[in-house]
Amino acid sequence: MPTLLHLDSSADLDRGRSRALTAAFADAWRARGADYTVVYRDLQSDPLPHLETAALHWPEGARPAGAIVPAAAAALQQEIIDELLAADVLLVGAPLYNYTVPSTLKAWLDRVHVPGVLTPAEPGGAQPLAGRPAVVAVTRGGTYDDGTATAGWDHGSPVLSIILGNAFGMEVRIVTASATLAERLPAMAALRDRAAAEFDAAAATLRSLAREVG
Ligand SMILES: Cc1cc2nc3c(=O)[nH]c(=O)nc-3n(C[C@H](O)[C@H](O)[C@H](O)COP(=O)(O)O)c2cc1C
Repeated sequence: MPTLLHLDSSADLDRGRSRALTAAFADAWRARGADYTVVYRDLQSDPLPHLETAALHWPEGARPAGAIVPAAAAALQQEIIDELLAADVLLVGAPLYNYTVPSTLKAWLDRVHVPGVLTPAEPGGAQPLAGRPAVVAVTRGGTYDDGTATAGWDHGSPVLSIILGNAFGMEVRIVTASATLAERLPAMAALRDRAAAEFDAAAATLRSLAREVG
């Protein structure tokens, strides 16, 4: 039973563009067959708490001496990690908020990025998610083109690429739609055609990825 873990983190429950993009992927995934399953987690509607203690960054047995980890917090962390381990494909909706990922998505990353569990604690250590596809739909209000003043200001995509790709060894595909605020902001009106074209291209890429991965 191929399983997709679908995460959304946009705080815009009605008009979020990343939600529309991840839905395009998930719909195409489901269309592959009745056994193509989706496990859905909405990090905005059902937020994870911030880490209760830094000791949760380490697995049991590698935590600092005397560290106290509430049992409920450890159980929640295990549930989130198990959910990711059970997924054949990970799908993440990741809007750019203040030049990085939404804090709700960061809370999820803080739960799953545990050295020695999903990422090697030492060279040659286990990487149980190695090679699994991770598809990220990034939406950004502005533009961050090479050669412009804002190039390199998107610090959200690199975080996801480093944790999912470098640390977990997943095959990361980041699909981006920029200038999403052009529709609403008169000052960005000149970018409306570009924004629409980027969104349509991103949706098409995601639909086609959903038919290939996993
Ligand atoms: C709290 C907040 C912070 C934002 N910060 C940025 C930003 O730093 N850069 C940017 O390009 N757009 C920023 N935006 C605009 C969003 O990236 C844009 O509206 C995007 O489409 C949001 O994703 P969504 O449509 O999936 O909700 C911000 C929006 C919000 C709500």
